[in-house]
Amino acid sequence: MKLTIEDLRGLEILDSRGRPTVAVWARLSNGATAWAQVPSGASTGRHEALELRDGDASRYVGKGVQKAAGHVGGELRRALAGREAEDQEGLDRAMMELDGTANKSRLGANAILGVSCAVARAVALSRGIPLWEHLSAAGGKPQVPVPMVNILSGGLHAGGNLEFQDFLAIPHGFGAYAEALAAVVAVHGAAHRVLGARGFPLTGVADEGGWGPPLESNEQALEILTEAIGEAGYDPGGQISIAIDVASTHFYQDGAYHLRTERRALTSAEMTELLAGWCGKYPIVSIEDGLHEDDWDGWQNLTKRLGSRVQLVGDDFFTTRPERVRRGIAEKAANAVLVKMNQIGTLTETFEVIRLAREAGWKAVISARSGETEDWFLADLAVASGAGQIKIGSITRGERLAKYNRLLEIEAESGLQYPGGAVILR
Ligand code: PGA
Ligand code: ZN
Repeated sequence: MKLTIEDLRGLEILDSRGRPTVAVWARLSNGATAWAQVPSGASTGRHEALELRDGDASRYVGKGVQKAAGHVGGELRRALAGREAEDQEGLDRAMMELDGTANKSRLGANAILGVSCAVARAVALSRGIPLWEHLSAAGGKPQVPVPMVNILSGGLHAGGNLEFQDFLAIPHGFGAYAEALAAVVAVHGAAHRVLGARGFPLTGVADEGGWGPPLESNEQALEILTEAIGEAGYDPGGQISIAIDVASTHFYQDGAYHLRTERRALTSAEMTELLAGWCGKYPIVSIEDGLHEDDWDGWQNLTKRLGSRVQLVGDDFFTTRPERVRRGIAEKAANAVLVKMNQIGTLTETFEVIRLAREAGWKAVISARSGETEDWFLADLAVASGAGQIKIGSITRGERLAKYNRLLEIEAESGLQYPGGAVILR
């Protein structure tokens, strides 16, 4: 019997920063029900799909999502009720058509993504298989991803203490995800000790659960992270390397990259040289958004300069949009894409981006947002896609652990392979 959508409801819930976000509940014709919760970013790119917010200043300073949640139980339910639940692409395309805008601004990407994910989960439940297995029909060869874990935070996630947003550890020298996670937890603890010994006060954590110390410079963060890897007993570069998310769009203004902590404003070429210099000095294997979201020429030069040995990831640059990734591939600007479901707003387009990356020989990193929920959907997406890398934030706070722990379960239950060092460019 054909499995169809019977009911959809939207609900305004809170994310990990105490801001409203959308949850969606779906019921299918066989009685199966499932929830999905939608994440939300802070350092958003200009080309992202629109997260619909109420703008009513009397509730949640205008950030309520009652309109978006209302669209789920209203227009979206009316359009999708009775449609085949297993036809994910058909459902996603129908929602895009119904919305009728290029950036999903009428119904809201938050409403549309919630439906996309809740229906997928209800179908997996109906089929009696894990979500990752169900999603893998649209992905590559499933594997448990290597985590790229936030240790030190800056930028918009840590009150502007530093310009660069994320200093992360990639544990690539391990045979299993569980071992890699244990190693990275040791680095997180060692970073605390190293920071304490240098006299940095640590009274709380940043948006993604990492340390947000008031360091003197971005380079000092690289130095401390390298030291913490060694202090935890691992070989920096051999077992655990460094990834950075420069998130440079957020300190680019009037044609220059403003690095207060380096006491200067840099051109695109100077930024590239600065990053290249640090890649020679520290075990950096991945740089995200090293240049800003519309610096296409700069990205080409950066890729010429570093692309053969360093993973260059576009986040704000591509915003998980198939047409931007296609252009990036054609112009050899970057060699990897950060994949955030809510930047584009449907599972179908998310998988399209992952497929484009794979076919071009690019890497893909499946990523959470700074505003997250206890939903672990992302862990299953990462496994299903076969992308090999996931970025969830730090190893503290429940909204992050929901995903890290889900990956431990999947690894224990599935016997799937863990790519380890294969994720690193040499
Ligand atoms: P965001 O940050 O969710 O605040 O956009 C994550 C990132 O930039 O990778
Ligand atoms: Zn980013």
